[in-house]
Amino acid sequence: VHPQHRDLPHILVYSPRGDEAAEYSRLIVERHPEADLMSASEPAGFFRHIGSAEVLMGWMFPANAFTTVRRLRWIHKISAGVEDVIYEQPHDPSVVLTRTPGALIAPRMVEYVLGCIYAHAQRFDLAAAQQRERVWHKYTPDLASQCTVGVAGLGDIGMLVVSALRRNGFRVLGWRRTPRPADGVEQVYVGTEELEPFVAACDVIVILLPATAATQRIISERVLAAMKPEAYLINIARGSVVDEAALIRALRERRIAGAALDVFEVEPLPVDSPLWELPNVRLTPHVSGPVIPAEVVGAFLDNLERYLAGQPLKRQIDETQGY
Ligand SMILES: NC(=O)c1ccc[n+]([C@@H]2O[C@H](COP(=O)([O-])OP(=O)(O)OC[C@H]3O[C@@H](n4cnc5c(N)ncnc54)[C@H](OP(=O)(O)O)[C@@H]3O)[C@@H](O)[C@H]2O)c1
Repeated sequence: VHPQHRDLPHILVYSPRGDEAAEYSRLIVERHPEADLMSASEPAGFFRHIGSAEVLMGWMFPANAFTTVRRLRWIHKISAGVEDVIYEQPHDPSVVLTRTPGALIAPRMVEYVLGCIYAHAQRFDLAAAQQRERVWHKYTPDLASQCTVGVAGLGDIGMLVVSALRRNGFRVLGWRRTPRPADGVEQVYVGTEELEPFVAACDVIVILLPATAATQRIISERVLAAMKPEAYLINIARGSVVDEAALIRALRERRIAGAALDVFEVEPLPVDSPLWELPNVRLTPHVSGPVIPAEVVGAFLDNLERYLAGQPLKRQIDETQGY
């Protein structure tokens, strides 16, 4: 995105969720009372305004969102994931796509990961089951901090998970696409050929990969087979990254110890999914990293300043890589 801008551009704010669009609009106007804002919360409103919008901010855009754009130059997604816009919403490649930095969404995700690891080591599910049956049967909890935790995806969120794990005494390994070291990570494994050795070395594996063409079902039957029988898998990124049918088989046959899943191939998780009933699964309805307007709007507003000043925007997506 380049210079020339001094006046505020026409901005369309869109979210089909409740009064979220109104809340983002209020926060933007608070910083820019003169802002030229349009806001919509259903597809008809979106299509009424998208033709004249230069900037679009929001998420869950309607199907075929970008077929009638004329002046659009910048799309800002308020979630960390952008796979829907890249793969399902054809748009002019010259339109810049940005997203909320994962770090603004990460704090609760970090606690989700720690909570799952400690709950698993403390065998809280077993305790709850015993409590329901009034059974007094002693067991020995594991010492979680003796685990080696592998973080697949050392981006914004992955790195915050790494530092929390290090602060709590865990040994941390990591996996990423590009060969670069990462603070606090004892060994960084790189690329598909090092994925199996990576998972084989971990007691807990945390998935923090984006949904891209390259990560589609990358946690495959083979990768699951390379995990230790004691391995515990935590997926808080995207369901498409894991071969769910293969995961269900591995969990049923106890080839891995268990999983904590916040994301699924199909959401909402279908009522007939076997995952609901597997005793070694902890399942949440995609809530680990909520996107809260007051917590994420700052990243858009900072980028708006850059846009107005003709500076390159932050957190631009490389659409050829999918993240
Ligand atoms: N459950 C929720 O509520 C929730 C909330 C927020 C985000 N998320 C998900 O979390 C994901 C991660 O967010 P983020 O902000 O941390 O993303 P990010 O900063 O873009 O980091 C992505 C990481 O994944 C790695 N990666 C990408 N493609 C890869 C491949 N083919 N092979 C190996 N590594 C690959 C990248 O490797 P390099 O470092 O080598 O580039 C990078 O380390 C998001 O994309 C989103 O889907 C979920």
